[in-house]
Amino acid sequence: MAKQFSQEMLRLRPSSREDTVVASARDLFERSLVQARGAVVGSVAAMAHPRRSGEANYGEVFLRDNVPVMVYLLLQGRYTIVRHFLSVCLELQSSAYQTRGVFPSSFVEEEGELVADYGQRSIGRITSVDASLWWPVLCWLYVKRSRDYAFGTSQAVQRGVQLLLDLVLHPSFEGLPVLFVPDCAFMIDRPMDVWGAPLDVEVLLFGCLRSCCHLMELARRENVSRMLDQRLALARQWQHDLRLYLLKHYWVTTKTVQGMRRQPTEQYGVNQHENEFNVQPQVIPPWLQDWLENRGGYLIGNMRTGRPDFRFFSLGNSLACLFGLLRAPQQRALFRLVLHNRDQLMAQMPMRICHPPLDAEQWRQGTGSDPKNWPGCYHNGGHWPSLLWYFGWGILLHEQRHPEADVLLMGQMRSLLDECYWSQLNQLPQQKWAEYFDGPTGTWMGQQSRTFQTWTVVGFLLLHHLLWVNPADVNLLDLEMELTGLR
Ligand code: GLC
Repeated sequence: MAKQFSQEMLRLRPSSREDTVVASARDLFERSLVQARGAVVGSVAAMAHPRRSGEANYGEVFLRDNVPVMVYLLLQGRYTIVRHFLSVCLELQSSAYQTRGVFPSSFVEEEGELVADYGQRSIGRITSVDASLWWPVLCWLYVKRSRDYAFGTSQAVQRGVQLLLDLVLHPSFEGLPVLFVPDCAFMIDRPMDVWGAPLDVEVLLFGCLRSCCHLMELARRENVSRMLDQRLALARQWQHDLRLYLLKHYWVTTKTVQGMRRQPTEQYGVNQHENEFNVQPQVIPPWLQDWLENRGGYLIGNMRTGRPDFRFFSLGNSLACLFGLLRAPQQRALFRLVLHNRDQLMAQMPMRICHPPLDAEQWRQGTGSDPKNWPGCYHNGGHWPSLLWYFGWGILLHEQRHPEADVLLMGQMRSLLDECYWSQLNQLPQQKWAEYFDGPTGTWMGQQSRTFQTWTVVGFLLLHHLLWVNPADVNLLDLEMELTGLR
């Protein structure tokens, strides 16, 4: 792959204006907060650009965009807002027969009424799955941090958890631990050929199950019931099977790829299981050779019969570190891979949403010629500053859990993170805290990008918090922390 970008060009020098930038980001964040049901409930997705009007549904409260918002509020101890957000979402959890248990992807208050979008109002009328999976994660983080156990064990929360679990823990045609979803079911909410079992959804499902188990264990301390015990056992087993499934079928290194290239095809029956998805060696893309180098590894984007998707998706891989889905040596293999491919993944504006982009022909087929997802743009290989904090927190959590491990590598990761932070700090204010940047280097503001996008602002503040305010707060996102550690 041709080098598109030169390291010397990086805009990463520390800036003396850091205090001013942080102060203005904090101010913007406060302005993004809106009320519903008479109290502050969360942030709008983007603040209207002063010179433009009609920002589509960016004035709504998106659940996924509010993930960093809620984490930031928890760090500040503003628990009332987080609790209100969680309660309003619960109120909006669907009770319709065909969608019972689903949380909306966004909502807004209009003339005193809450109006929620479960997909029926969105462009393309797409299904949103990630919002529902995020809710238990946020709920657990809130309970853990605020110690509001009464909320965690309340009937409303426990009922919400069971309704959500009904959507996952049920028989299916495949009998697999993954959740099958249509195209556009998560942050990538326009066609990108990510139907099936996309990594971002499956890793989130893992975090969701883990959080549901924590919440159920909490309830069990107060009230033992057979039903709860059964659900807990089932959810634990599902989470365990899901993890093994993803590690077996999605994790690739140069060693696993070589094995894949030489494995038999057309296998059937119980004794032939080297190539369960009948993957032909021809579908393994040549760019993987340089990309993986000797000691890199990552989770691929999707596994489908005969058609694995080898694209690298940043959010799924970052969450796999944070949620502890990847084992410690695998996390370090992922860090090596990002370091090795930083020209593509970080470049001028960290971090790229996925790599490589679908090319012109694949774009026509895979996106239905969606102009927003043109190669290198938006979801198709665009750069999203809001993604950096997930990866950054993954590095810092790893460092905290394994302080002795590969000190050299972790030192390099730390410098990479610092440089990415400075790169954002020096560009985002001039670029109006844009939603995304176009590739290949991410230098230019996205062609159709919103400005003053909340998760761009708050993602930056979250990284600033861990790097310079309180590094110990990285614990907040540690889903492995057991209930026994709580008082
Ligand atoms: C776009 C993005 C989606 C985001 C929404 C609001 O639709 O694709 O991920 O949640 O904007 O910011």
